[in-house]
Amino acid sequence: MTNHILIENKINNFEKKIQVSSDKSISIRSVLLASQAIGTSKISNLLESEDVFNTLKTIKKLGINYTKKKNTYHIKGFGVNGFNIKKNTTINAGNSGTLARLILGLIVKSKYKIKLIGDKSLSKRDFSRVINPLRLFGSNIKSKNNLLPIEISGTKFLRPINYDEKIGSAQVKSCIILTALNTPGVTRIKAKISRNHTELMLKFLKYPIKVKRGEKFDIINIQGLKQFKSFNYNIPGDISSASFFIVLTLLSKKSKIIIENVNVNKSRTGIITILNKMGADIKLKNKRLYNGEEIANIHVKSKEKLNAVNCPAKLNSSAIDEFLIIFLVAAKANGISKFKDLGEMNKKESKRLDLAIKFLGLIGIKVKRFENNISIYGNPNLILSDNYEIKNFLKDHRIFFLSCITALTLGGNWKINDKDSINSSFPNFLKILKKIGAKIN
Ligand code: S3P
Repeated sequence: MTNHILIENKINNFEKKIQVSSDKSISIRSVLLASQAIGTSKISNLLESEDVFNTLKTIKKLGINYTKKKNTYHIKGFGVNGFNIKKNTTINAGNSGTLARLILGLIVKSKYKIKLIGDKSLSKRDFSRVINPLRLFGSNIKSKNNLLPIEISGTKFLRPINYDEKIGSAQVKSCIILTALNTPGVTRIKAKISRNHTELMLKFLKYPIKVKRGEKFDIINIQGLKQFKSFNYNIPGDISSASFFIVLTLLSKKSKIIIENVNVNKSRTGIITILNKMGADIKLKNKRLYNGEEIANIHVKSKEKLNAVNCPAKLNSSAIDEFLIIFLVAAKANGISKFKDLGEMNKKESKRLDLAIKFLGLIGIKVKRFENNISIYGNPNLILSDNYEIKNFLKDHRIFFLSCITALTLGGNWKINDKDSINSSFPNFLKILKKIGAKIN
């Protein structure tokens, strides 16, 4: 079966209202926390993508049953540490860094040894960031070179820790929070600001977690060994998926889009702040609160003139998965855009900073790099007419999405390989593009 697409035409102007797929971070967290709640939780609009299916398969392997009725998953939990773990269990996190990092916190007391594996991309990613704090808790964890496979054997002797999380990684912070649920006493984290869905969900569940918001850091205190009840949750849209449609609209001519019901938690909306600094006019309308999370409709119009940006590094974490598509806007903007301290991009599903620079080179954009800082020399007249082939990107879904949006806004004849990468976060991406009018073969 072919696993590539061809794009040979830019998209015509459009005015549409769409919904993108559900939030991946919140979907994974809702399944994991439902597996630790007492009773049956009901989760509707769960993202049905590979990363979330692997999360569902994981809890099932650990003894938690679920069923799907209409649009709702019913997950029956037995409380914190309520897994029923069998001998010789292997968990396959597939492509999902979030699942692999978070699940470790929930199996630290396992009666039997558990092996954690992942796909080719995940097997290249660093796990020292979670192995180090887990060892401080007293967990028995083995891995060669801090890579997968990891073996974890449960312990009864966990102790609370006081941890300084300096990366600004929500996966690390969440792994520590989930480990703290299994640990007696109060665990304290000083965490560089990152997405806070785990904290908000635990607060919504009335779990004893306290968060003191600082400018750059949060101080989080988690009381261990408490229980929480099952819950209902309706997952909102994912701003990381929406970002590709935001930029598609911005860079197309005479177009408008409304993206309904998207999670616009401030720890996720860096892309909107950055694009508005560049001259875009993106508005959040009908803002409302849902279980501690902020939801809104995103209104975007095309914009002929965009300016370069000097992007403050403090926005990095709130746009960490969106820089690829932000760089495309910088490529079309007037002037030299500057981005700093983006080393974390190289720790994702692929080495995204390296690949982004290659990609920009391929479409004729000058980029200067110094360590993890880059300057992008924008060209407002950029039009593509050559043949382009995108391959060997470790099936990174976001590189695939970036390539499609580039082809549809700048032109050229594109062959984009590894179409199935979209299943990791946004399986209906191509369907929505076609609905808006994109011609894709
Ligand atoms: C995620 C956190 C981010 C992000 C990833 C999802 C999460 O990773 O890149 O796609 O759901 O916690 P880091 O926390 O490692 O930055």
